[in-house]
Amino acid sequence: MRLSRTEGRKRGGGRTGWQRLPVTLLICLCLILAACAPPPDRSPSLDTALVEGLSAAEEVAMKIQPAGAKPAEAPARPETVAPLRLPDDFPHGRKGEVIRAGWEIFDDTPAALSAGAEHAGTTYDGNALSCRNCHLDHGARPGALPLTDFNTDRRYSPRKGLVITGEERINACLQRSLNASPLPAGSAELASLAAYLKWVADQGFAFTQEGPGVRDFPDRRADFVTGETLFYNICAFCHGGEVTGEAPPLWGPGSYGFGSDMNRLLVLAPFLAANMPPGEPELSLEEAYDVAAFVNSRKRPHARGLDSDYPALTKKPVDVPYPPYPDFFTQEQHQFGPFGPIIEYRERQRQADRWVYWVDHYRSGERDVRSAFEME
Ligand code: HEC
Ligand code: HEC
Repeated sequence: MRLSRTEGRKRGGGRTGWQRLPVTLLICLCLILAACAPPPDRSPSLDTALVEGLSAAEEVAMKIQPAGAKPAEAPARPETVAPLRLPDDFPHGRKGEVIRAGWEIFDDTPAALSAGAEHAGTTYDGNALSCRNCHLDHGARPGALPLTDFNTDRRYSPRKGLVITGEERINACLQRSLNASPLPAGSAELASLAAYLKWVADQGFAFTQEGPGVRDFPDRRADFVTGETLFYNICAFCHGGEVTGEAPPLWGPGSYGFGSDMNRLLVLAPFLAANMPPGEPELSLEEAYDVAAFVNSRKRPHARGLDSDYPALTKKPVDVPYPPYPDFFTQEQHQFGPFGPIIEYRERQRQADRWVYWVDHYRSGERDVRSAFEME
C-alpha cells in the first residue's frame, strides 16, 4: 500500500511524545544557539569608535573601515603609475633641482642636513634616521606610511589642536621621529622637502594611508615575551639594538622619540607586518602586535610638552602612549592594550554626551529632537 504524503505525516503525528523528543531537542538546541549568537551588527560599534578617534586624527597611519563595511577590497594599487625611479623621474630645470634637493634630504637626512646646515643657520642635531627609513620607497609605498596625499595646504591637526601647514607637518616629524630641531620657516631645506613631497603626491598614486581595522588586531594585552623572542629570531640580525649597523636603531638615543607616531602600537604593528624584514615581510599582524609592543617598550628619547598634545582629548587615538586621557584606563593599557575595552568605553561616553546634549537642548526649549542629533 502506498501512502500519500499527507497520510504519512498524519501517521507520524501518531508518534508518542518520547518518539518526538529528539526532534524537539534539536529544535530547542537550534533556538538556544540562535539566541546566544551575537546579533549580527553588535560589534561594529568597535570600528566606529576607532574611526571617530583615529580618522579625526589625520596623522594616523591607519584607515579603518567604517562600521558594517564589506571586508576591504584590495587596497588601490597604482596600476597606472609605475614605482618611482629616482632621480631619473624628476622634471628638468630649476623646479627639478629644488625637488631633487628635497629628495636628497629625504634619502639621507643626517648627511644632507649637516651639509646644508649653514643655509639654515643651525647644526644638525637629529638622530641617525632618515625620512626614507620609515616612509619607504621614496614615501610612496602602500602600508609604509605613504605620503602620497601630502599637500602644503593648511590642515587641522588634532594633535596640535590647530590648523597647520604641510611644512609644519614635516617639522613635526623631524622633531618627533628624528629628534631634531625644526627647520626654520622659509629655509631652503624646508621648502625643498615640501617641494619633493608635493611632487610625490602629484604622481597620482591611488593609495593613501591604508591600514588594517581594529578587529584585525588581537583584543588582548600584547605579549612581550613572544615579541622579544620573535625580535631576536627575525629582526636582531639587522637591527642589533641601540647601535646603528646595517639597519637603523629601534631604541636608544639614536631612535625615534617617545612622542613619535611610530611609538604607537597600532601604527608600528601594521608597518612591521607589511614591511619587515624589507622585501620579505614575515610577521602576521598578531605577531607584529607583540613585536611592536616589545620594541616600543624599550627606552627612547623623551620629548617635553607631550601632555599638551591633543587639546581635545576625545580626539586622542586610543594607543597614544602618554597621558592625559579622556578615560580612566591606565597608561600601560593605552600603550600595550587590550584596546577593545577602551574603545567601547569611549563609544559609550560619546553616546552619553550626546544624551546630555539632547536633554540640555530639550530643556532650553528647543524641542526639535532631530536637529539636536544633527548637531553632532
Ligand atoms: C621613525 C619613523 C619616521 C621617520 C624617520 C620619519 N617619519 Fe614622517 N611620519 C612617521 C609616522 C609614524 C607618521 C604618522 C603617520 C602618518 O600620518 O602617515 C609620520 C607622518 C609624517 C607626515 C604627515 C603626513 C601628512 O600627510 O602630512 C609628514 C609630512 C612626514 N611624516 C614627513 C616626514 C619627513 C619629511 C621625514 C624626514 C625629515 C620623516 N617624516 C621622517 C614616521 C616617520
Ligand atoms: C634584512 C635586514 C632587516 C631585518 C631582518 C629587519 N629590518 Fe627593519 N629595517 C631594515 C632596513 C634596511 C630599514 C630601513 C629601510 C629603508 O631605509 O629603506 C629598516 C627599517 C625599520 C624600521 C623603521 C625605521 C626605524 O628604525 O625606526 C623599523 C621600525 C623596523 N625596521 C623594525 C624591524 C623589525 C621589528 C624587524 C623584525 C620583525 C625588522 N625590522 C627586521 C632592515 C631590516
